[in-house]
Order: sequence, then structure tokens, then C-alpha cells
Amino acid sequence: MESTAGKGILDGDQATREKVVALLTKAYWMEIETVMSYISASTNLDGVRAQEIRESLAEDVGEELGHAKQFATRIKELYGVVPGSEDFAPEQSFLQPPGEQTDVIHVIRGVIKAETGAIEHYTRIVEETDGVDPVTQDMVIAILRDEQGHRRLFEGFLREYELEGKA
Ligand SMILES: [Fe+2]
Ligand SMILES: [Fe+2]
Repeated sequence: MESTAGKGILDGDQATREKVVALLTKAYWMEIETVMSYISASTNLDGVRAQEIRESLAEDVGEELGHAKQFATRIKELYGVVPGSEDFAPEQSFLQPPGEQTDVIHVIRGVIKAETGAIEHYTRIVEETDGVDPVTQDMVIAILRDEQGHRRLFEGFLREYELEGKA
């Protein structure tokens, strides 16, 4: 009987590995864009009501950057190349600075949308790596949990505004 030892993702077929690297690369860019969007939102927002959101987003910047680094490291481990900045294509049109910097609801909705996008993509990675690459799967499950936590927090913020009839 042929041993299956050494038949992990690093020894498996190249097409499978390249597919995982492509999924990780998309995830990497999503994290990088989130870092940009959260830095601008946490800095731009004005007003007493915005303080909680500002602080929360400022904290998330570090967490999202940590995710980006993890995706980059995994791309490298799978013999991929972490892309350069010229490959970046923005997608978060919904997280551009609002017309009024006191528009907290615009930012809250944008964050929920960004986190939802990440949750969808990472759920796909978890599915695609099932039985194929447990190490990537394990890493992405942990990151997925962080994004679920971020979304849950901002859903709570939105709910408060909705209850007051302001959203
Ligand atoms: Fe993230
Ligand atoms: Fe997040």
C-alpha cells in the first residue's frame, strides 16, 4: 500500500496549490484595503457619538494588519509570491469617507459590509481547503472568527442607532 505521508499541500499537485494561493492572495488584498479604510475612518470621524467607533476601528487596524501578515506568510509557505502594490485594485467603494465626517452610520454600515465580504471569502477558503490543506484551513478559521466578532460588534452599534430611529 502506498504511503500517504508527505502528500500534503506542499507535495500535492501544483494546480491545487496555486488555487489556494490565489484564494489567499485575494484575502491578503482584502485585509490591506481594510487597513486603509479603517485608518481613514478612525481618523476622519468627528463628534462625541463617533468616539466609540473611532476607538474600535483604530484597534481593528492592528488586527487586520496582523491578518494580512498571516495571509502573506502562508502564500510564501505555499511557494507563492506576495504581490506588489501595483497589483492592488480597490473594491471598498462603500468605505470611502462620507460627505459629513459626523456620519457615523455610513461608517458602521461600511464596516459591516467589509466584514461580511471577508466572512464570505474566508468561509469559501475553509470549504475549498477542507481535506486539502488543513494548515491553511486552521489559520483561516481563526481569522474568520475575528471577522465574525468584528461584524457582531458593529451590528450592535447599528442596532443602537436603529432603535433611536437614526438609521
Ligand atoms: Fe481581517
Ligand atoms: Fe475584520
